[in-house]
Amino acid sequence: MSFTNTVIPRSVEWKETYIRLLDQQKLPAVTEYIKLETVRDVWEAIKALKVRGAPAIGITAAFGLALAAKQYETDNLDEFHSQLTRDHDYLASSRPTAVNLFWALGRLVKSAQRAVSVNEAKTSLLHEAIQIQVEDEATCRRIGENALPLFKDGDSVMTICNAGSIATARYGTALAPFYLAKEKNIHLSVYACETRPVLQGARLTTWELMQADVDVTLITDSMAAHTIFRKGISSIIVGADRIAANGDTANKIGTYNLALLAGAFQIPFYVAAPLSTFDPETKSGADIPIEERDSKEITHFGGQQIAPDYVKVFNPAFDVTPHHLITGIITEKGVLSGDYQSEIQKIFKGEA
Ligand code: MRU
Repeated sequence: MSFTNTVIPRSVEWKETYIRLLDQQKLPAVTEYIKLETVRDVWEAIKALKVRGAPAIGITAAFGLALAAKQYETDNLDEFHSQLTRDHDYLASSRPTAVNLFWALGRLVKSAQRAVSVNEAKTSLLHEAIQIQVEDEATCRRIGENALPLFKDGDSVMTICNAGSIATARYGTALAPFYLAKEKNIHLSVYACETRPVLQGARLTTWELMQADVDVTLITDSMAAHTIFRKGISSIIVGADRIAANGDTANKIGTYNLALLAGAFQIPFYVAAPLSTFDPETKSGADIPIEERDSKEITHFGGQQIAPDYVKVFNPAFDVTPHHLITGIITEKGVLSGDYQSEIQKIFKGEA
């Protein structure tokens, strides 16, 4: 069965002279697509969370670098590569935690290294960016297929943030099994934590699942324990921004709380992520850089001040869930569990 009535939105599209981007900051009140015409537009869109979610950030940055390179006027290959390095570094400075950003930009730079002319380099960059997006869609579908057998008809599953279609090329990671369940007429209910302070759960996860007619219920983050208990939540599934060599996982702030709750309630806690979110170079969660964002995200709500002037604020955008709290990491290559260090090593040896 196919998605006849199911809408699975896409957030990033290459349009030759610009990138068409769904402005995720305006959702759900306004569905607006904006044009990114320069590398600066792309940097600002990533920084301001107009596009967010690890794979979508990587895809947008990849198109951003291809777009920047397209606009270089030089015919000199050395000059071209030095401009490319400058724009690579600029885009890489937009956000620090999601490793997909660095992974995608690195893939692009590598793809241009073989070129013998500026024109060939420009073409290679664009092909690589398109390839990253195409691969991500197939990868997310595989993640959904690998995740689906972990749930049974009638299950209620909790999630946080938005690891959905608009955070990837399509389908999402943590939300992919819900789209696939819909295709197969398997009924799964989703409980979406609102995800303070930027509300990706309230604004984005509910928005995209409702469009696809997936059963979704919104709760505030502080309702998680009560909801697990009262609504019989059978498992929790989340996305990831960076997975270290030992399986420690950085994801949206609040994820660690849910992992601890899953342990307390003895329900499975799953992470769903593509291999592009793994960072075997980072030994453990302690080495993952955690972005801290503007204090206004906490002191203000809908433009209204909700905390005293000059209050001290700590606003980490992500936390790290230690690997021992994770029941399984669902990838496009299968579900990892147990000794994550050696499972991750094995999977990357296979890739190499
Ligand atoms: O700050 P955000 O909205 O970019 O954070 C996004 C998340 O934490 C997602 O769960 C993660 O990137 C996975 S997206 C498939």
